[in-house]
Parts: sequence; structure tokens; C-alpha cells
Amino acid sequence: MTTNIGVLVSGRGSNLQSIIDHVESGYLKKVKLSVVISDVKDAFALERAKMHGIDAVFIDPRAYASKMGFEEKIITTLKSYNVDLVLLAGYMRILGSEVIQTYRERIMNIHPALLPSFKGLHGPRQALEYGVKVAGCTVHFVDEGMDSGPIILQSCVPVKDNDTESTLASRILEQEHRIFPEAVKLFTEGKLKLDGRIVLRREN
Ligand code: GRF
Repeated sequence: MTTNIGVLVSGRGSNLQSIIDHVESGYLKKVKLSVVISDVKDAFALERAKMHGIDAVFIDPRAYASKMGFEEKIITTLKSYNVDLVLLAGYMRILGSEVIQTYRERIMNIHPALLPSFKGLHGPRQALEYGVKVAGCTVHFVDEGMDSGPIILQSCVPVKDNDTESTLASRILEQEHRIFPEAVKLFTEGKLKLDGRIVLRREN
């Protein structure tokens, strides 16, 4: 059975690109990138989607009186594409409970830090300022908290003495582009099982 994927974005879309590349290379099988939704009109991620023949939709948050109205539009759009799995790929808003309830355990986020450390914005900057020697990224299911849902995959990278925020962020980004598609593959092949907040690998 094909898994229909909807991707929420706000910016440059390098993680979206990595998912697209992994679909086109055949690494991700039985997957359709059905729609990319952005809350930012000129997000480059929308262009990337169009260049690959994927429907790209801008939903303007300012057109809605409330966050709920905006999110209802997101839900109806995702439903109109029969989306089974939602990816947050650089989506810069905190999702409301309506979307989370509608797609519980079917929303994944990529975060540029080793959770539960350095939640929120600027993961690499927080890691540098704290002085950790290992940094990294996390793919997790999204729950009502901020960057707090069950962890699916993590990858670490060294922090070097001469790192700047930008050198560290790009070392982490390389790993994001590897583990996000891997998590999608595990999900679409039915290999993830949740036991409370623990994500287990099903061997089948
Ligand atoms: C990535 O660092 C991701 O971890 C974070 O936002 C950034 C998005 O980058 N959630 P891109 O738009 O995928 O290039």
C-alpha cells in the first residue's frame, strides 16, 4: 500500500529535498509525496516541490482569525490528499492539538539537537554555548509538548573547538538528511512500534 506523505515547511527546504531525493532514488518505496504546505509565501521549499511535480500550497496564517481556523485549513488540505504521514521539515510553528489529535503518532519532526537537550530554536547555537562535545539531531513523533515526543532516531556529530554556529549546523544538517528519510522508511515499512513513549523496531 502506498503511503501518502504531506510535508509542512517554512523555509529553504533542504530536508524536504532530501526526502524527494530518497523517493526518486528508490530508497523510499511505495511512498507518494502528495503535498507540501508552507505557512510562508516565498519559502524556497515550495519551489523545490514544484520543480519535482509535487503540489505546493501556501496557507496564509494571517488570513485566519484564529490559530484553530488556520490549522483546520491545514487539516482539510492534508485530508484532501489522503495524507497518512505528516513530516515537519523546518516548519517553524508549534502545531496545535487539533492537528496532533488528527494525526497522532503519524507526525514526525526533525530537530537539530540531541533531544531532550536544546529544545526550541537554535539547537546548534545552544549546544555551542553550553559547551557540549557531542551534538546531533533527532527525528521524533510530535506530541502536544515542544520537541518532546517519542524519539525515533538520533545521530551525533563531534563539536570541534573552532566550530561556529554555521559549521556545526551544517555538520548536523548532513545527518538530518540521512536520518529523516531513514525514519520515514521505517514508518512506511511498518517497522516502528510504540510502547508508551518508547519507539521500538519491529522485526518483520
Ligand atoms: C533544520 O535544521 C531542521 O532540523 C529544523 O529546521 C531546519 C530546517 O532546514 N527543524 P530546511 O528547511 O530543511 O533546510
